[in-house]
Amino acid sequence: MTRLAILISGTGTNMQAIIDACERKEVPAQVTVVISDKPDAPGLERAKKHRIPAVVFEPKDFPSKDAYELEIVKELQKKRIDLVCLAGYMRIVGPTLLSPFKGRMINIHPALLPSFPGLHAQQQAFDYGVTITGATVHFVDDGVDTGPIIVQSAVPVKEDDTVESLSARILAEEHRIYPKAIKWFAEGKLTIEGRKVKLR
Ligand code: GAR
Repeated sequence: MTRLAILISGTGTNMQAIIDACERKEVPAQVTVVISDKPDAPGLERAKKHRIPAVVFEPKDFPSKDAYELEIVKELQKKRIDLVCLAGYMRIVGPTLLSPFKGRMINIHPALLPSFPGLHAQQQAFDYGVTITGATVHFVDDGVDTGPIIVQSAVPVKEDDTVESLSARILAEEHRIYPKAIKWFAEGKLTIEGRKVKLR
């Protein structure tokens, strides 16, 4: 069984979709630990409801970003994590956290990358005036939302959309494609070849 860690900063609805898919045995993995950088992240309560260990590491409690990330790495290694899933984890992952998990860390982003990387992707797409946006699951590399793409889903922008209605439509797709990407990883079906991810 693939051992997952989920890193969050907020609501944790993607985390919830992953937990549910694992509990329904649609994904051959178990959420072994949830880690938040925010003590008040609502996602922590969701983890507790499912009796999943939830740990908080606050960057402000550490002398440097390296020291903060090293503590996360220790926790991940202690729990023998196979795959790290970033799910609304609103920090740039540095080399200390990434290097032990290169090729074993994935992220969900609320846009069709490489369009609209970084923060507020839904707002960026809305303001730009695109008629199609979406969601992307990708491996994490040392850039911001630049890693090899595993799966994407397109979402229309409607005439009468607000950024909230658009975000909700994207989020529903996120909940569908994130567990799917994890399933493929857990089944050993993904290989990274340069910029491309091959699905066996
Ligand atoms: C999701 O829309 C996720 O794609 C986004 O934050 C939201 C978290 O929601 N992540 C990013 O923007 C990362 N750059 P959730 O906590 O309910 O899963």
